[in-house]
Amino acid sequence: MAIRNILTEDDPTLRKISRPVTSFDEHLWQLLDDMKDTLIKADGVGLAGPQVGILRRLFIMNTGEDEMLEVINPVIMGTQGTQEGALEGCLSCPNKWGEVVRPQKVIIKAQDRFGKEFTYKGEDLMARCICHEYDHLEGILFTDKAKKILGPEDVQEG
Ligand code: NI
Repeated sequence: MAIRNILTEDDPTLRKISRPVTSFDEHLWQLLDDMKDTLIKADGVGLAGPQVGILRRLFIMNTGEDEMLEVINPVIMGTQGTQEGALEGCLSCPNKWGEVVRPQKVIIKAQDRFGKEFTYKGEDLMARCICHEYDHLEGILFTDKAKKILGPEDVQEG
């Protein structure tokens, strides 16, 4: 188990465009396993490669199932509807939240850690998470898209 350092918003790496994953080998599996440990420790919903300094097109998501979803070389196949009102945050932007309009449903095509292709349909929070993580692969942060950025003083606990 290894916890990786999560880059924060002023790091220029987060503004770069990630390259496709081409090797589905032990190096990739180690990265994915480390990212899982890192996401669990940080208590987040999703984590993308660039956030741990790896400019490759991959992210992981906590879908609420036993196993986290590993998404490699994702392609957004379609979206449906819109959702807004929920506050979005990011492990790379601590103590910031914002309202971002996202699709209500998203269908992606991606590869698993062995290179096998799959499709996944996310709704509500999962659709929001897919779009947020996909943006990381394009060097985009939610703060670029949020209507208003809130700090801890604006968000009441509980
Ligand atoms: Ni994020």
